[in-house]
Amino acid sequence: MITDKKLTNPFLLQADDLSIEDIYLIFEAADYFLDNYKPGVKFNDLKGVTVALAFFENSTRTKLSFELAAKRLSADVFSFQSKTSSLAKGESLIDTLRTIEAMGVQIYVVRHSCSGVPHFLQRNSSGIVINAGDGKHEHPTQALLDAFTLRQHFGSLKSLNVCIIGDILHSRVARSNIKMLSTLGANLGLCAPGTLLPRDLVKWNCKIFDDIQLAIDWANVLLVLRLQNERMESGLLPSMSEFSKYFGVKYPHLTSKPELVLLHPGPVNYGIELDYRLSSYPNVLIQTQVTYGVFIRMALLYLFKHSFLN
Ligand code: CP
Repeated sequence: MITDKKLTNPFLLQADDLSIEDIYLIFEAADYFLDNYKPGVKFNDLKGVTVALAFFENSTRTKLSFELAAKRLSADVFSFQSKTSSLAKGESLIDTLRTIEAMGVQIYVVRHSCSGVPHFLQRNSSGIVINAGDGKHEHPTQALLDAFTLRQHFGSLKSLNVCIIGDILHSRVARSNIKMLSTLGANLGLCAPGTLLPRDLVKWNCKIFDDIQLAIDWANVLLVLRLQNERMESGLLPSMSEFSKYFGVKYPHLTSKPELVLLHPGPVNYGIELDYRLSSYPNVLIQTQVTYGVFIRMALLYLFKHSFLN
């Protein structure tokens, strides 16, 4: 049977909202769904629950996997996209929320280009808010599925050396992963040009590398990030090709260390942060992350309903 234990908080806005017990509880529920899901057979756990996917910024993986997860659990689910909504006619964010709430929504999955919007919605709503990525602040469900992928591969994250490579300054994935992977016992490293590292690095308690080969020598896992051009000021990099030359992961990096595991949250800009030939290389777990993302989101939706909506 699915676990009977409950989550601590009726929201997920940042990685810190989950205790280590919460994270293992989500993994336990994800294991259950992974083992018991049969194509074409739905679970009834979210029957009668309405889930709104409120995406004010583009998404492929996060939006589709939450939608699939909600449908596999028999929820009523609908999508809201800002570009085609009455926001374009001047309606405010809070009025948009009240309008959606009046339709009987209990769970909101929210993505926005501004940091803090999920917090604002959570304060102004009686529903459960899940942050699906806010600006450069956090993306906690990505960190959950990354941690789950590593646990499936290695058995445990304890003492695993995980190096995050690329545009760390603008990355919500990096912020959530540093917290969550550390909580689970991993050692964190960061490898990036100085201009793409945050100013307040000391509090992050990570090993810093400015040479990709040294980072690879140290790491069991590379978590590669794309350049977040949509959040980047000009002048941070001399050129894309220079970034790629010094901080891109190349084919020989992996062939020289076959046990090295590579994650990327996507979307990938092949030819910049990652060599094209690595897309289907063993231990490059990008598609596995996507597959596990659906089960992690099923687990989360199930646990929020079970913990707070019964
Ligand atoms: N990893 C991630 O957030 O991808 P999407 O932008 O496609 O949702």
